[in-house]
Parts: sequence; C-alpha cells; structure tokens
Amino acid sequence: MILQELRIDPARLVSGVERLGKIGALEGGGVCRLALTPSEKLGRDHLVAEMKALGLKVAIDPIGNIFGTRKGRREGPAVMLGSHIDTVATGGLYDGALGVLAGLEVIATLNDGNIETDLPVVVAAFTNEEGARFAPDMLGSLVFVGGLPLADALDIVSIDGKRLGDELEAIGYAGTDQGPEEVAAYFELHIEQGPVLEDEKIEIGVVLGVQGISWTELTIRGRSAHAGTTPIRLRRDAGLAAARIAAGVGAFVRALGGDQVGTVGAITLTPNLVNVVAEKAVMTVDLRNPDEALLQAAEAKLAALIEQIAGEEDVTIERRGLARFEPVDFTPALIENIDGTAKALGLSTRRLFSGAGHDAQMLARIAPAAMIFVPSVNGISHNITEYTEPADLANGANVLLQVTLKQALPTNGEEA
Ligand code: GLV
Ligand code: MN
Ligand code: MN
Repeated sequence: MILQELRIDPARLVSGVERLGKIGALEGGGVCRLALTPSEKLGRDHLVAEMKALGLKVAIDPIGNIFGTRKGRREGPAVMLGSHIDTVATGGLYDGALGVLAGLEVIATLNDGNIETDLPVVVAAFTNEEGARFAPDMLGSLVFVGGLPLADALDIVSIDGKRLGDELEAIGYAGTDQGPEEVAAYFELHIEQGPVLEDEKIEIGVVLGVQGISWTELTIRGRSAHAGTTPIRLRRDAGLAAARIAAGVGAFVRALGGDQVGTVGAITLTPNLVNVVAEKAVMTVDLRNPDEALLQAAEAKLAALIEQIAGEEDVTIERRGLARFEPVDFTPALIENIDGTAKALGLSTRRLFSGAGHDAQMLARIAPAAMIFVPSVNGISHNITEYTEPADLANGANVLLQVTLKQALPTNGEEA
C-alpha cells in the first residue's frame, strides 16, 4: 500500500463527533462538559471505551489526563495526537473534541490498513483545557509537561467552590499511571475558532504559534447601602467600580489597537439586588497579544486603571492572577511538515497565529509541537452554534494522518 494514498473515513469521523456531542448535550444545541463534572465524566468514559475498542492501551495520570497508546515496532518516544474533551458551559461539538476524535480516526485508519509504525502513536485528552471551571486553562497539559506541580494543581478551587483533587477523585479519574515518558512530536488538530480561513476560503490553517494570555480576577470591596437614600457622593459602589473597569478595559484595548484583545467575561455582584448598592464585585479580565512586550504594556494599562478607579470610587481592589502564559512559537520542521503535507493533498493553506489557548502550547515546552486548523463557520466558537463542515473535518484529519505517518514511520512512502 502506498501510504501517501491512505485516507481517513469521513463518515466515521463525523459519527464520532456526533456521538461525543450527545454527552452533555444542551437543549437547543451545543454541549456543556465543564471539567470534572458528571457530564464530563461520561465523556471520559465514552472516550476510554472507544480507545479500548481500537486496541489502545489506556493510561490515566494523576491529573486525569487520558492517554491511549498504539504500540510501535520500537519502544521509545511517541508521536502524540491530542486536545481536550472538556468544554465551556455553552460550548460546541468541535472545540477540543475534534483533535481527540481525529486522533482516534487516525488510529482506526492505521488499524484498518494493518499499518505498523516505528514509533508508538498516542492519543491524548488533557484535563481542564478550557479553564472555565478551574483556572488556569491548559491545566492538565501544563502539569504533564512539569510546568505546575501536581499538588498545587490538585488544590485549585473551581468557580463553584470545589477542590480539583476532590472532583477528580469523585469522577474516578485520579489515575496512578504515567503518561508517555518521551514525546517525539505533538500534533493538535483544532477548529480555527475565528473567521480568517473561511473569509479567505482556505482549507487548512498552518499554525505558527499561540498568543500570550493574561487572566486576572479582581475582587472589589465597597459598602452596601440603600439605593434611594444614599447620596452618590457618599457611596462606595463596587458595582459601579466594576462597570468602570470593564469600560476602561474596552477603551484601552481599542486605543492600543493592533492585535491586542481584552475581555471582561464575568462579573458577580453581591448582594446583586435592585435597590442595594453592591458591596462586592468579583470580575475577570482576559488580555491577549501575540507580542509579549505589548501584552505587558496592556497589563500595565490595567494596573493603572485599577488604581485610578479604586481611588475615584473609594473601593479596595484585590488582584489575583489566574493564568499567565507567554506567546509560544511552534516547531519550524513540523510547521513545514504540515504545510507541505496539506499542499500535497491538494489543499490550500495559510499560516496564522492562534488567538485561543491550546494544549499544544504546553507540549511545545518538552517536544516539537504544531497545530492544524480547519475553518469555523462564521468564525464562531465558545458558542452552541459552533460548526465545521464535514469536508473540512476530513481534510484536517487527513493532514493529521499523513503528518503522523511521516513522523512515526520515517520510511513512509514504501510498502507497508
Ligand atoms: C481556552 O481555550 C481559551 O483560549 O480561552
Ligand atoms: Mn480547544
Ligand atoms: Mn475552548
């Protein structure tokens, strides 16, 4: 068999995405599989069963990362294909799931063709990539690469007040296995989650790296008071301070321009009642930029804004860093491999930087790593209407298959 002619089964891939998409499905579309919740446990159980059905040896590590290994002719460093199956609370079927399920589709294709690789091929699903329930994001892959001590990770508390280690135990995924000791190369297929590929009618995004991420939680404390009787000049209004910070973030991000983005995605007021001046506000600020120096400049703007508003509104503002990751560049040889492979498959390509965080940025700390993007319809993601056309899913999975073969079977092209 000429290995360059090997292709994945598009219908089987789509069916895999749809089956996982039924787990944690929301009425009206989309899914909620927040990390380490009962619905995510069901997703994990499903994934483990699928891995076993494909003959993979399943390992669960102490942070709950799931690894399914297909043996190679040799022991040694593995080619890893991965992503995540946790979602935001109002997520779609493709973010993360595609990278894991396309990994399984690569395995199924190798199995069907009776193809032995030199190196083992591992499919990985990393814990809590989204960071929506436990911060930071990319937590499982961060622990896997040694970037965060396990004990510290297990002590992280969720937005609903639960300790990560306890939640991991509760769903039965506090594993005792070790993940692969050495990774020869890491590939992650993911939806773009933005509009560029669709807009330019490009089939495959060749990802150069991931922009820097800075997440801060602010706790603003003022004084609750009667909304009718308290003169404005005598208020210490935490709600107003939060609103001014949100507006201020929007203003400085616009003024900085370029690639700078900033988001206030969560604000919780206490006591959150119509006729009570809020005594407390807890809010988040997400700043991102592909350039570390510019990201630091944005962080400095935020710091100045906080100081200004604290003074003007007579409130105290406490800051807690939730996540801070510098921009990451992927491995040039793998970038070339992806671009060349996609072109050889007759697909149009474009190089781009990722706006979203991904497990690949953590794996890049210990191994050559790169990513393949496929278009997102209307550029929409972190939204229940997230969608990618079946033909694009198949294109991405075929690129994943071929780059895997090149990496795991350096004799690719000869008879299997
Ligand atoms: C995580 O996926 C993020 O980019 O927010
Ligand atoms: Mn993702
Ligand atoms: Mn996501």
